[in-house]
This record gives sequence, C-alpha cells and structure tokens, in this order.
Amino acid sequence: MKGIVLAAGSGTRLYPSTIAITKQLLPVYDKPMVYYPISVLMLAGIRDILIISTPCDINNFKKLLGDGSQFGVKFTYKIQNSPDGIAQALIIGEDFIKNEPCALILGDNIFYGPGFTGALKDATKNAKKGYATIFAHQVKTPERFGIVEFDKKNNIKKITEKPVRPKTNYAVTGLYFYDKNASKYAKTLKPSKRGELEITDLNNIYLNKGILKAEILGRGFTWLDTGLPKALLDAGEYIRTIEENQGIKIACLEEIALRMGFMEKTELIKILKKYPDNDYYNYAKETVKNYQ
Ligand code: G1P
Repeated sequence: MKGIVLAAGSGTRLYPSTIAITKQLLPVYDKPMVYYPISVLMLAGIRDILIISTPCDINNFKKLLGDGSQFGVKFTYKIQNSPDGIAQALIIGEDFIKNEPCALILGDNIFYGPGFTGALKDATKNAKKGYATIFAHQVKTPERFGIVEFDKKNNIKKITEKPVRPKTNYAVTGLYFYDKNASKYAKTLKPSKRGELEITDLNNIYLNKGILKAEILGRGFTWLDTGLPKALLDAGEYIRTIEENQGIKIACLEEIALRMGFMEKTELIKILKKYPDNDYYNYAKETVKNYQ
C-alpha cells in the first residue's frame, strides 16, 4: 500500500504568512502541520510515502523530513508545478504508485478521534479488494466542500463539489483510499471550471462503477481545517488543549513509528539523542524510553 501527501497550493488565504513558507510547514501548536497527515498514513500502516509540493517548497520538506528512516518509513519527493487540482497528485505519483492501492491525504488536514485506526484498517483492506473509500464529516459550511448525499441505507447517492445549495452537511474530507487503478482513472479527468482536476470527479468515477464506500466520521470526531488565520489558530489551541489535558501528544511521529513496529526502541533512543530538550522531544524521548 502506497501513501501520498499533497502539500502544494499557494495558501493565499494565509498571506502574508505563506509568502516565504508553505502553509503545510507552519506550526500547528508544537509541530509542523504536515506531521498530522503523515501520522494518519503511518497509522494506516503505510511506510512508502510520496510527498508532493511546489518547486519552491520541496527542499524545505526534504530538510524537515529527510528520507524517513528516522521514523521507519521511506519518503519520496515530487513536484506539482502549479495548483492544478488534488486528483493530479495521482498522475504525478503514477510511477510511485506502480499499480498498487494507494491512500491520498491533503497536507493541511487534521484528523483526531475515536475509532480512527479501525476505520483506516478497513479502508486499507477495501482498497486491496478493489474499493475506494472517502471519509465524510459534518460541517457548518457545506458550500465550501465536496458534499456527499446518502440514500436511506446509507449508500452514497451523489457527491457534488462546492454545491451552492448543499443537500447535506456531510463534507468529503481530504483523505481518500483507492484501489490500484487511481492513476489510470485520474488521467481520464478533464479540468473543471476552476481549471483543476477535481478529486470529486475521480470519486464519482468510483461511485458510478459501484466501488466507492463512505466512512462517516461521527460527531465525537474532529476534522480540522487550517486554511484561514483563525482556523489555524483554533487548530493549534485544540491540539494544545488535548495534549495538555491528557499528557499525550497527537501526531508524534517517533511514538507512532514505535507503536506501529516500524522502529526498534533502541534505534529510536539513539536517534532522539541528537535532538534538543524541548516540549516535543522530551515527550518523544520519555515515551520511547518507557515503552514496554
Ligand atoms: C478540496 C476538495 C473538496 C474537499 C476538500 C477537503 O477542496 O475539492 O471536495 O471537501 O478539499 O478539504 P479545495 O481545498 O480544493 O477547495
């Protein structure tokens, strides 16, 4: 199973903060935003991960993440030259995907809540069996998202990109699991009115073939958007609140590498010695040291 993080886009809604640095490298409280989507792929058991970013930003991602060996994963890097749509990631990543099932996540999406690991496992299993999975979550402003309608049996009826009059509040979140054919289908897409290869159009191909499943992330779940200054601050506050209350960290990649069995405790202890004593690394060091 392959994984792709799409961390491109111009982030103009956050200008001037994102003139010199891309949004996905900005901090969400105590770690860079891109750590959160990477943690989701790792929790899905995915170790072969492609990071797609802009020509300007790709080197900063390499500086931050390296080859991935410190987390027991392998990062590959590719460029999206201009913001031509989410579905383009599956074309850019065609050689990387190599006809295998693949998960795609947006570099600015934060997921947190009960039952998530189980949902990821199901989606992985289904991708291997030839199904795609989208994850739907209720939102207050459905006109800003891809929106999914269900029939009485909770089967997906329709997905519409940014409907003017949304029929439901269920947004399609920025996490998608596909079977081995995602690149092939993505190559048949035509740009939309906004000039992008729409992920909604790709999802509709799977829907029309009868091989699209939806996992509903219920009301106890949190899906955070970080596209606006206030949303970015809210996301940071949310992470801080949970982390301080529970004494845990969300998306600590070293901890996940250990729990997923990607890294040995002794290897991680050695690697973590190189990092300064601060809130994030002290947590990582302690958690690894105390892991049984
Ligand atoms: C994109 C997708 C949309 C999805 C959203 C999730 O929107 O097109 O279907 O609901 O991501 O973040 P965009 O960021 O391109 O406006």
